[in-house]
Amino acid sequence: KRIVVLISGSGSNLQALIDSTLSGRIDGRIVSVISNRPDAFGLERARRAGIRAEPLDHKAFDSRETFDAALQELIDSHEPDLVVLAGFMRILTPEFVSHYLGRMFNIHPSLLPKYKGLNTHQRALDAGDTEHGCTVHFVTPELDGGPLVVQAAVPVEAGDDADSLQQRVHRREHEIYPLAVEWFCADRLRLLPEGVEFDGQHL
Ligand code: GRF
Repeated sequence: KRIVVLISGSGSNLQALIDSTLSGRIDGRIVSVISNRPDAFGLERARRAGIRAEPLDHKAFDSRETFDAALQELIDSHEPDLVVLAGFMRILTPEFVSHYLGRMFNIHPSLLPKYKGLNTHQRALDAGDTEHGCTVHFVTPELDGGPLVVQAAVPVEAGDDADSLQQRVHRREHEIYPLAVEWFCADRLRLLPEGVEFDGQHL
């Protein structure tokens, strides 16, 4: 399978995916890493792994629509089977999302449907939650609202601040994102109108 990964930052989830493709655990190849921030460290991770690294600066475009159209053209030039959002910090137009429906994943640092949007770790702490976590989901037009694929929970510990909690969640992200991509590449996961199907069973 051909995989395109979109990033905006450090790319530690990208690194976990690179490692899992190189080890053969994911039956697929990352054919391009695209960042809307030209200085994202994740682009360097891609280059070091011999993967094409493509900056596409959203600031060079005059609207969300024109940026998304250019992004779509760039992605499609690679003919991917799967598009993976790994810390891609842009809201996407409904047209873009529809184009990749059923073949685009996102990872979000909360136990969705709790805490869509930003500052999830602080919000979990403020709410006094005893557990927090992360979720891989199919992307649909509703922000952080698509059907869930896999989640991992971590305990909230006494003395946690947003940073310590984020680090604990991040380690689990690096486990569940490769797992979801592995399943997709092995044709075990499908998005149907009625929800996610895994090994022929509805989740
Ligand atoms: C992760 O916390 C992810 O859940 C969120 O953005 C962050 C990306 O981190 N959507 P990294 O760039 O993969 O290190």
